Amino acid sequence: TTINGILVGTVQDFPEGEIRPAAMPDGTNLAIYNVGGTLYATADLCTHGEASLSEEGILTGNIVECPWHFGTFDVTSGAPTGMPCTVPLKTFPVKVIEDSVYVEF
Ligand code: FES
Repeated sequence: TTINGILVGTVQDFPEGEIRPAAMPDGTNLAIYNVGGTLYATADLCTHGEASLSEEGILTGNIVECPWHFGTFDVTSGAPTGMPCTVPLKTFPVKVIEDSVYVEF
């Protein structure tokens, strides 16, 4: 099988209900979320004021809250769901193959 993605870890690295950072080849980070056992990836930086969502975000269900100004996003789509966030987060497909987690970056 050809895998078009960046290996970011194993499934054990991404516990349910939590957010973890993943370093990309270009030096940026993504935020990886485990929502009910399914992994999602977005850009790490809040589109409002560049807080790190993997470090400071609070995940409740599929919604991440940015603690800087309490804006929110749906991590499954990147859509902003609460002010002051109005610009979507970029999202990236996640693939789990056996125990390995890949992001199409
Ligand atoms: Fe995230 Fe302002 S920096 S809501």
